Amino acid sequence: MNTPNPTPTPKPGSRQWRGVIREYADRLDVTDATPIVTLGEGGTPLLPAPALSRRTGADVWVKFEGMNPTGSFKDRGMTMAVTKAVEHGAKVVICASTGNTSASAAAYATHAGIGAAVLLPEGKVAMGKLSQTIAHDAKLIQVQGTFDDCLDIARDLAANYPVHLVNSVNNDRIEGQKTAAFEVVEVLGDAPDLHVVPVGNAGNYTAYTRGYREDIAAGNATRMPRMFGFQAAGSAPIVRGEPVRDPDTIASAIRIGNPASWELALQARDETDGYFGAIEDAAILEAQRILSAEVGIFVEPASAISVAGLLERAAAGAVPRGARVVLTVTGHGLKDPQWALRTADGSDVEPTVVPVDTAQVAAALGLAS
Ligand code: F0G
Repeated sequence: MNTPNPTPTPKPGSRQWRGVIREYADRLDVTDATPIVTLGEGGTPLLPAPALSRRTGADVWVKFEGMNPTGSFKDRGMTMAVTKAVEHGAKVVICASTGNTSASAAAYATHAGIGAAVLLPEGKVAMGKLSQTIAHDAKLIQVQGTFDDCLDIARDLAANYPVHLVNSVNNDRIEGQKTAAFEVVEVLGDAPDLHVVPVGNAGNYTAYTRGYREDIAAGNATRMPRMFGFQAAGSAPIVRGEPVRDPDTIASAIRIGNPASWELALQARDETDGYFGAIEDAAILEAQRILSAEVGIFVEPASAISVAGLLERAAAGAVPRGARVVLTVTGHGLKDPQWALRTADGSDVEPTVVPVDTAQVAAALGLAS
């Protein structure tokens, strides 16, 4: 028999993370009647990164958001946005995306039994994200324009057709995403001194600031971290102070020329004594390699900009010795794995090939004397 919502009978003492809405129900706009749509998002690891601490003189921790169900932090906001969409009776959600939002929207809509329509900039979305969006059965449209064009159209459609917008201009997304700050405070016992995030639309930058602000008001944290946000140099409208018409970076997730939460982000920067900086693609790829080869965490290029940004700020003398720093790395490396297969000079990594012979394998591994 097909039971839509089976009630499990857990072993006494066992504990499964219940997703951010149930874990933080008292801090989100939900009631007992809210039809919660969750894939178990949140509760992601906050990991010490000794290699980065050594490199910077700070006490560096990494919030690994690639461990969410669809491999990015978007799931925190999407559980909330799709839950509220269902609560409002929506039958179809819509979003513009550089790939991660669409993967997440598609998965959560499918789980809720409603439709997802997604608008993606043609040819600009990483393969893993495209595969996820298709696998979760979204109605996928590639638009011959930028992400910013896609968002304009998605907003138009939501204003004029029966589709519910789940981009981060929807406050439910920010609400869900603020829970990441709650988790950081729970694990560290207080807010860090400095928190670094990648910036595209600046929704996540805004969400962390809100989460920390609420934690201070609730007495869980004693201080507001300085919020540092980084954009790719070829796609850095906030740093430049004007929209970028044709943004360009290998960090496709944050290839955004006109951020939706621009104003809110500037307010959050001023509130937190924060900072926005721009990072070149080569430094992003170098940081991705450092994080994967020295810390053991594989992230997509857009996420590695947190690491690159911290290294740049530390080199500039802007990170006090011993400061407690949290880097949010937003998406899993498997989403966009091709960059790890290239060397710093752009040539392909060539794995060593040997015949079926132990001695030759030993020699190739440098084990032979
Ligand atoms: N990191 C990753 C991996 C992302 O996918 C995004 C945004 C960001 C950082 C930036 O977050 O927009 O809140 O400043 N991706 C969106 C998408 C645009 O469509 O998946 P933000």
